[in-house]
Amino acid sequence: MKTVLVTGGAGFIGSAVVRRIINAGDSNVVNVDSLTYAANLESLGSAADSPRYRFEFADIANAGRLAGLFDEYQPRSVLHLAAETHVDRSIEGAAPFIHSNVVGTSVLLDVALDFWRKLPSRKQQQFRFVHISTDEVYGSLSGAGQFNENSRYKPNSPYAASKAAADHLVRAWHKTHGFPTVTTNCSNNFGPFQFPEKLIPHMIISAIEGRPLGVYGDGAQIRDWLHVEDHVNALLAVLERGRIGEVYTIGARNEQRNIDVVTSICAVLDQLHPRADGRSYTEQITYVVDRPGHDRRYAIDPSKIERDLGWRPQRDWVRGLKETIEWYLENRSWWEGIRSGAYRGERLGLGR
Ligand SMILES: NC(=O)c1ccc[n+]([C@@H]2O[C@H](COP(=O)([O-])OP(=O)(O)OC[C@H]3O[C@@H](n4cnc5c(N)ncnc54)[C@H](O)[C@@H]3O)[C@@H](O)[C@H]2O)c1
Repeated sequence: MKTVLVTGGAGFIGSAVVRRIINAGDSNVVNVDSLTYAANLESLGSAADSPRYRFEFADIANAGRLAGLFDEYQPRSVLHLAAETHVDRSIEGAAPFIHSNVVGTSVLLDVALDFWRKLPSRKQQQFRFVHISTDEVYGSLSGAGQFNENSRYKPNSPYAASKAAADHLVRAWHKTHGFPTVTTNCSNNFGPFQFPEKLIPHMIISAIEGRPLGVYGDGAQIRDWLHVEDHVNALLAVLERGRIGEVYTIGARNEQRNIDVVTSICAVLDQLHPRADGRSYTEQITYVVDRPGHDRRYAIDPSKIERDLGWRPQRDWVRGLKETIEWYLENRSWWEGIRSGAYRGERLGLGR
């Protein structure tokens, strides 16, 4: 049975990937994660009990440790999701972003390349290294247009710059060493198990905790939202059928203004979890000082992955958002621990 090595499998998207592969039943998974503040092994659920699942506590910047894991597990492929991911934290301090996203990716590439070089040729041909990245590497759009695989790199936040560096390293390992990589650049994800500092869970939880819903700037920034399970479908399609050396941009053609996302959350909560005083959650919305360097608009043209790999998003935005809100209402134990420890809802990233 083939083995997939997933980095960052205790995070939001990585845990969805691991759950899916384990439930599909035809692969082993090794989850390599250093359990930063953003990790939560509870997100694995029953997948963690499978005999086909192994967790390895390791930092991807630790070459010796990684080499041992490649040796031990002999993976057929790598899905590289481990990263520092929160823009506001990258504004507070970029060092962990450089460590995990840049140094970590280069160490992982080197170890994987060494491993791949020693494989017999049939196994070399089967091997894939899928690097998971973001549309934020392309910077900000004004009114018109969409990002695609040919868009210029113009990262604006330290997070985006560190992911851009990682993308370039992956490209170079392919071009220079012939290492079989594929890169994906995806738009904003939403769904269950997302860390409460990100916009959608942050607003759901703050609303029901009776806190102000602080919308950055004028709230007219646009993000292109994709359900995490649709992202997983795309990543598995890329793993199975993606062409070596190619890049695929992933998105659902679902542009939403931040303020509209917040008012939609309020409307759903007004129905599902009405305030004790009978008033609308929209009364908690307040505008706060904008994020420094805040990108105005992201939008993805996913034509290539649709055409070449037959991928299509399956989830409807309105229904997916409602189900996500229901999940946070029904799974308080998952986020209440975080809320009392790693992240208490404080404003981050106002600059130094
Ligand atoms: N969330 C999004 O909307 C989105 C969109 C596009 C792309 N991405 C990319 O997808 C990937 C996963 O994002 P996410 O939202 O699930 O992130 P997340 O912050 O929820 O999880 C990241 C995981 O990586 C682990 N990690 C961090 N540094 C590590 C290191 N040095 N060694 C080992 N493990 C480490 C953390 O412990 C955590 O479990 C990232 O590469 C991110 O850039 C995310």
